Amino acid sequence: MHKIAVIPGDGIGPEVVREGLKVLEAVGNKRGFKYKLKHYDLGGSHYLKTGETLPDNTLEEFKGYNAIYMGAVGHPEVAPGILERGLLLKIRFELDQYINLRPVRLYPGVDCPLKDKKPEDIDFIVVRENTEGLYVGSGGFLRKGTPQEVAVQESFNTRMGVERCVRYAFELTKKRGRAKKLLLCGKTNVLNYAHDLWMRVFEEVAGEYPDVTTEYAHVDATCMWMVKNPERFDVIVTDNMFGDIITDLGAMIQGGLGIAAGGNINPEGVSMFEPIGGSAPKYAGKNVANPLAAICACAMMLNHLGEVESADNVENAVKKVISTRLKGLEAGRMGATTQEVGDMVAEEVEKV
Ligand code: IPM
Ligand code: MN
Repeated sequence: MHKIAVIPGDGIGPEVVREGLKVLEAVGNKRGFKYKLKHYDLGGSHYLKTGETLPDNTLEEFKGYNAIYMGAVGHPEVAPGILERGLLLKIRFELDQYINLRPVRLYPGVDCPLKDKKPEDIDFIVVRENTEGLYVGSGGFLRKGTPQEVAVQESFNTRMGVERCVRYAFELTKKRGRAKKLLLCGKTNVLNYAHDLWMRVFEEVAGEYPDVTTEYAHVDATCMWMVKNPERFDVIVTDNMFGDIITDLGAMIQGGLGIAAGGNINPEGVSMFEPIGGSAPKYAGKNVANPLAAICACAMMLNHLGEVESADNVENAVKKVISTRLKGLEAGRMGATTQEVGDMVAEEVEKV
């Protein structure tokens, strides 16, 4: 029995999560695995009503689940940072979800903004460090509001944090068994302390993986290649901030935020799966958002829970729906509503 905590969240979150759960039910019935859900009302609306982002007892409860399934958090009436720090990053940090895993894969039939790139050219995965770097929230102001103001924001890179992330990336590259190429993305020419550590750890761990080909690229060059030669990537490992940025670029080359999913992984603990796009308030409640990212996040969750065949089942159903039944992946331009896309995937799950 898989115990899953569900956080539908804000904006389009509840709508896309509903479709993800529809597909989960379909594949659960088909394959016969059992699960139990509990919904948590958290996010911007809840914060505006109650003033709380993530109560301590809820966080404690989360530790008792096998996975967390999240829609989106973010609300136009809540100041930037409150929900991010108080809820999303708090879960990532407190549950020590030190890997943010973000596949970038172009499915057949998807309109790719890159000229002449085909599904076989875009199939890589980004391993983003998820608990350190610029995200720790360390720093401060001096003389705030004066012309002499100083704002400091520090990047934390611990030997332990970098090493466990790099090791995870090497293991994944080996397991994926594709080109067996791991690229470290950094900025060693400028971040001469932080990324010097990353580079040393990368080279040291590489010694234990003679079958994995290693490569290094600066983050700016990585962005350039993601557009020009995405076929050169197999697995990319990078720090928190760079990983955040390059995975939005990754989402665009795979067809947009409507299809991009990710997992916040604690290999020894509780992991959380989410579409990587935000709450998209302008589409909220309109039944136009694309639920495929949430559905793909559900497939990643199934994979993580050990329901590998069910995960494949969902992924194949998604591919089928994209290539035979949708006009596009963008919100409002799919040729179907949010609910209809969920129905289609659930139907294909039964068939494939
Ligand atoms: C993401 C988001 C978050 C991040 C924000 C909402 C804090 O952009 O999951 O990529 O920066 O990690
Ligand atoms: Mn982001």
